[in-house]
Amino acid sequence: MRIIIGMTGASGAVYGVRLIDRLRDEGCEIHAVMSPAWRQSAAQEGIAPPKPAKNIRIYEPENYNVPIASGSEHFDGMVIAPCSGSTLACVASGINRHLIHRAAEVQLKERRRLILLFRESPLSLIHIQNMERVTLAGGIVQIAAPHFYQSPQTVQELADTVITRTMQLLFIGSAASTTLPLPSTNRYEP
Ligand SMILES: Cc1cc2nc3c(=O)[nH]c(=O)nc-3n(C[C@H](O)[C@H](O)[C@H](O)COP(=O)(O)O)c2cc1C
Repeated sequence: MRIIIGMTGASGAVYGVRLIDRLRDEGCEIHAVMSPAWRQSAAQEGIAPPKPAKNIRIYEPENYNVPIASGSEHFDGMVIAPCSGSTLACVASGINRHLIHRAAEVQLKERRRLILLFRESPLSLIHIQNMERVTLAGGIVQIAAPHFYQSPQTVQELADTVITRTMQLLFIGSAASTTLPLPSTNRYEP
């Protein structure tokens, strides 16, 4: 599967990096882009940016002349991990401040799977309304909230409690046995 990963400047840089690792282990072709703000929050959290490798392509956030910016190239899904409030707002309103927003816009218009792993707390009404708009347009808002059922001992194990669920939403790995619905075809009606 060909998967786009957008990484934005919210806390939880580990989520995107870990998702790339696990998708690569599943044999996926990964197309990744980090926003300028991601570099600031990732540095704060001690997370290094992913490097290009076999099956991992990295794009510059200001370059729109790339396959993930076009609907004529097929990608099986996109995850924004982590997703900031600012990027949620851009996706909800169709504004492109960088390549991640354009790639997400393309996923929605082509009715392909788009998951926003959202990280902000508490929520304002603006966040909630933007989540509603994205959901009605066919996107999935997954909250970056880890769970503790398996007593995670490390940051990676904690992050994996979230990322495993993201992969289920992408139908990858053990997700093959789940019966999640396809993206909604609802249109946004103001
Ligand atoms: C260390 C650090 C942590 C941040 N954490 C968050 C966060 O958890 N959620 C959020 O929505 N914004 C957070 N921000 C603010 C975003 O980085 C900022 O809104 C930025 O414009 C997001 O741009 P982007 O979505 O294009 O990456 C943080 C910024 C910094 C520097």
